[in-house]
Amino acid sequence: MPHDERRPGGSSMTPPPPSRSLLQRMRKLARMLEAKSERRLSVAQWCGLLGEAFRDGRTTAAPWRCLVEAIEDGEVRVKKIAGGEAVPERWLLLPAEREFTIQVETPESREETTLLANAPALAQAARPGDVLGDAAEPAAVANVLSTILHWFSDQPLLPGRTYRVVGCGGERPALVGKLKGRLDPEGLSLAAARLEKGETGVVELEMDAPIIFDAALPESPLSWLLLEDAHSGLPVGVAFIRFALRRAGNVAWQETDIDAAARARALGQRPCVLWFTGYSGSGKSTVASLLERRLHEMGRHTYLLDGDNIRHGLCRDLGFSDADRVENMRRVAEVARLFVDAGLIVIVSFISPFASERAWARNLIGADRFFEVFVDTPLEICEARDIKGLYAKARAGKIRNFTGIDSPYERPQAPDIHLRGNEQSPEEMVETILQHLRREGLA
Ligand code: ADX
Repeated sequence: MPHDERRPGGSSMTPPPPSRSLLQRMRKLARMLEAKSERRLSVAQWCGLLGEAFRDGRTTAAPWRCLVEAIEDGEVRVKKIAGGEAVPERWLLLPAEREFTIQVETPESREETTLLANAPALAQAARPGDVLGDAAEPAAVANVLSTILHWFSDQPLLPGRTYRVVGCGGERPALVGKLKGRLDPEGLSLAAARLEKGETGVVELEMDAPIIFDAALPESPLSWLLLEDAHSGLPVGVAFIRFALRRAGNVAWQETDIDAAARARALGQRPCVLWFTGYSGSGKSTVASLLERRLHEMGRHTYLLDGDNIRHGLCRDLGFSDADRVENMRRVAEVARLFVDAGLIVIVSFISPFASERAWARNLIGADRFFEVFVDTPLEICEARDIKGLYAKARAGKIRNFTGIDSPYERPQAPDIHLRGNEQSPEEMVETILQHLRREGLA
């Protein structure tokens, strides 16, 4: 069942439905992207594709926008991406929010690049990827956005999952926050837990660094974002930015006096995360707990985050739908990041069935201190063991979405540590992990 509920979304909170022409544009872009869906698109390719899609000249109706490409010998090279005939005199550089009065030659074609000489102050302030736009109609800067998003991947869009967004100004990871609703053919919003291929929804995107965009201006290339799968890198969706939900500057990162290195020094160890993944019953908890005991005996400071335990507290509100598992892994990865920051050797033991979230966790925590430990016990053996009796219940249809039965498990392709659950004893598996840690200088 693709959708949990089928009722109209909240009434007074629901913004007016998107116009037919906007949805048409969006589908046109999606069709062009689907034709290219076998490869990853660079920022320049995405900008080129937008130009091609909206070749009807509509970008001339958008306010002037130039992308800063490079700064060389005091000259700024910019590329026009939108703007009409009347060239502005006052320009706003974003994200620096600084105004400049400069003469810009009108490039005839959108693809053309212009050199801005005699603008030393601009050359000092500008960075590649910045946007120089009409100061009278400034673009916006924010890191939490409300978008209309069209999805065309075979894998559903899941709230809580991190994708890669590509805009004309650059690319960065973006987390799908709330899915506010799915749009029916009339543009009305229906409650939904995920978006399936070919569906359009109202989706909140959260980024850790702000982007520059033109809210609700279909004519501006800055209003459009491409979404790529964080794991495979392939295009999966296209988003139109409606408005900013929050500006990055409003919630700042608070620097603390004592940093991660100081805490690790005080504990006399190098912190890391050992991220166990494998089927239910594969032996993750047994090995994880034995490993923690061994590390403890060696005088190491550890913490074990175990799926079953965390689901009693921090994640007690989550079930086993794909979206809930994504959220489960997101929370656990964030907690593991804090604990590693505290200087601990963190052992994480969850099924963690999705490659995408495991890759995201590695990225979040840092590849040099994240080790994926695959407890590779064949499903038949886990099922034959059936210590908690859950496989029998799943086969009998009493439990739904059970990993390996009617919910997927994506095997790690290149785990850092590969344990053979049906060949090695728990003690041998722990020894394999310790050997790895010794090689890495961590134990
Ligand atoms: S995960 O997929 O979100 O990483 P997690 O490790 O937290 O899963 O929880 C898995 C544990 O919950 C299993 O060991 C099992 O005891 C229990 N469980 C209950 N229902 C399910 C289910 N439908 N699928 C998998 N595990 C389940």
